[in-house]
Amino acid sequence: MLELSSISDLRSWTRAEHAAGRRIGLVPTMGFLHDGHLALVDEARRRADSVVLSIFVNPLQFGPAEDLTRYPRDLPRDRALASSRGVDLIFVPETSAMYPPGSEVRVIPGSIAARWEGAARPGHFSGVLTVVAKLFHLVEPDVACFGQKDIQQLTLIKRMVHDLDWPLEIVMVKTVRENDGLALSSRNAYLDPVDRQRAVVLSRALQAAHDAWRAGATRPPDLEARMRQELQREPAVAAEYIAMVDPERLAPVETVDALTIIAVAARVGGTRLIDNIALGEGIG
Ligand code: PAF
Repeated sequence: MLELSSISDLRSWTRAEHAAGRRIGLVPTMGFLHDGHLALVDEARRRADSVVLSIFVNPLQFGPAEDLTRYPRDLPRDRALASSRGVDLIFVPETSAMYPPGSEVRVIPGSIAARWEGAARPGHFSGVLTVVAKLFHLVEPDVACFGQKDIQQLTLIKRMVHDLDWPLEIVMVKTVRENDGLALSSRNAYLDPVDRQRAVVLSRALQAAHDAWRAGATRPPDLEARMRQELQREPAVAAEYIAMVDPERLAPVETVDALTIIAVAARVGGTRLIDNIALGEGIG
């Protein structure tokens, strides 16, 4: 596995791959890899000849009171995992390479970013889209894979690619979960054992909504009440929002159906977690 940190080296590699007629798959990450990231790698591998995994903790997507400095990092472990999964190239740039002094142009995400995570984390999605746009320019991938867990991020990236006529395919990969249902996330590393147990209530609440829907409930307030009932079983878990939305614009729906996305955000101790399901698919 090749490791590059320089933008010019990356460009040379990318151009050689394309010149050789090889399709490139990109998996953008902030590192501290887990099985969810590795599922993205597997999907990219299925769809491309060469797989690039970027590791970059992007300061632009963290608010001033967020966890940029303590975000978990373990590059040696990430290298070993990426290499054992058949990644061809890891791109690990310095912040100064991605945002040299004077860099100030940002991608503005539009109205899909106004709600949910965008409302809770002002500026977050502008930071995400800016770094993803840069990575798309640097790697020129034919396909890029993103996880379902960050559904609003994925929806916005699809929108950006569509609106800016980018010639690449964005693939969603289903959320990977622990055996008890907890969605994998690098931020799960913040949870102490007690909060780790409590955190399972997010997926249990989504499961409860799914069960209620399968039993015939179609009104969002009814499903939300069912979810809140479940969440209240863990009084130390503070729900921030429960969203029942369409998959295109993530706008609230009046009646849920198989395509509806149900998303939840909650604080578990000091850690903010998110999770979601597509109602027709359930927890999976
Ligand atoms: O999902 C993430 O890990 C990040 O938001 C991404 C897409 C790598 C951009 O920094």
